[in-house]
Parts: sequence; structure tokens; C-alpha cells
Amino acid sequence: MSNEEGKRRAARAAMRFVEPGMIVGVGTGSTVAHFIDALAERRADIEATVSSSEQSTRLLKERGIPVRELNETGELALYVDGADECDPHNCLIKGGGAALTREKIIAAASRQFVCIIDPSKKVGVLGKFPLPVEVIPMARSLVARALVKFGGNPVWRDGVVTDNGNWILDVHGLRIADPLALESEINQIVGVVTVGLFAARRADVVLTGEET
Ligand code: 5RP
Repeated sequence: MSNEEGKRRAARAAMRFVEPGMIVGVGTGSTVAHFIDALAERRADIEATVSSSEQSTRLLKERGIPVRELNETGELALYVDGADECDPHNCLIKGGGAALTREKIIAAASRQFVCIIDPSKKVGVLGKFPLPVEVIPMARSLVARALVKFGGNPVWRDGVVTDNGNWILDVHGLRIADPLALESEINQIVGVVTVGLFAARRADVVLTGEET
């Protein structure tokens, strides 16, 4: 099975968590694009969605799926999103698409987080994929110096501005044996908006498209 087919199958498998009348939290990325296509086939069934990015909002609206604001909806029953890496405990690296902050907010606001990935994203230990960190622009070099102390090599994703007007540092060379601790420590650095480690609020269910 190709990675693209894995993404498509995982996205389709997530549809079994969608129930009539739901407001569904929707992540960002190429795997989620397949989920949005599947959701469009059942748009009459659901009440609305809450979107994690301008990119997903555009895709949802193009397919006639209503998008609401999280402040109006309150807690969500379901959030479906992709990831860049997933460890055996369902801890994730996210943010390859620079949407990590809104993704983390919706994940925190949701009772169930279903993560859809192709099988190549399953790893024993997180860190081969560079860890994205969203930063306030004026704090970029301050945060980068602090991240070096964790043994990583932060690289500015030059030219990328997040939906929140911030910048991204991608931290290369980490081996993340304790994702929960590292998430908490990076959260303490002044100038960090969001670290793309999803350990405190990890996925409840991970679908790889290999399920029967
Ligand atoms: C965006 C993300 C995505 O979920 C992640 O990058 C995976 O993307 P794709 O499904 O395109 O491989 O975290 O910020």
C-alpha cells in the first residue's frame, strides 16, 4: 500500500466515529483533505465543523460543509487530524503544515481525538521528524538559543507565517524519549506559542488505514 493510499484509507476509517448531528473538529494536511472529501459525502448528517486552519476552512467551505467558531460551539465530541509522527503511546509530533496551535486548541476542546496517519508515520521514539515550534517573531533567536540546550538544532522555517501571524522553528536532531516532559519544558520558554508535541493531550485512537 502506498503512503497516499494509507492516508486515504485511514481518513475513510475515521468516518465510523462521525455520528449524526455532530459538530466535528477538523485538522489540517493532506490526510485530512481525504477526510474532508469523505465528510462531504455525509454533510447532511452532521451539524457543522470547527476548523484548525485557513486551508481546511477553504476546503470545507468549497464542499458546502458549514464551519463554526470554537467559541460558539464549546466542547466537541470528536476531533480528527493527521500527524507527522506517532509513537507507541499515541504521542505525536504535529505541525508539519504549520497549523499546530489551532490544532492543539481543538484537540484540547474535544472529548475524542482520532488521529489518521499512513503506516510510515509510526515510530518507536519521536524525533526523526523535526519538531515544529511556533514562536512570537521577535523571540525567534531567544527561543532558538533555549532549544539548543535540549540538544536540538533549531532551523527557522523561513518565509512561513502561521495563521496566527507567528513563525516556526523546526528542531532537528532530537530523540524524544519522554515526550510529556519535553512538551512541558518547551512550553516554559518565553516566546513559545506552541510546541508540536502532542503528549499531554495525545490521540485517543490512531488509524493507519491497515485496520480491517
Ligand atoms: C499540520 C499537521 C498535519 O497533521 C501533519 O503535518 C500531517 O500532514 P499530512 O497529513 O499532510 O502528512 O500537523 O500542522
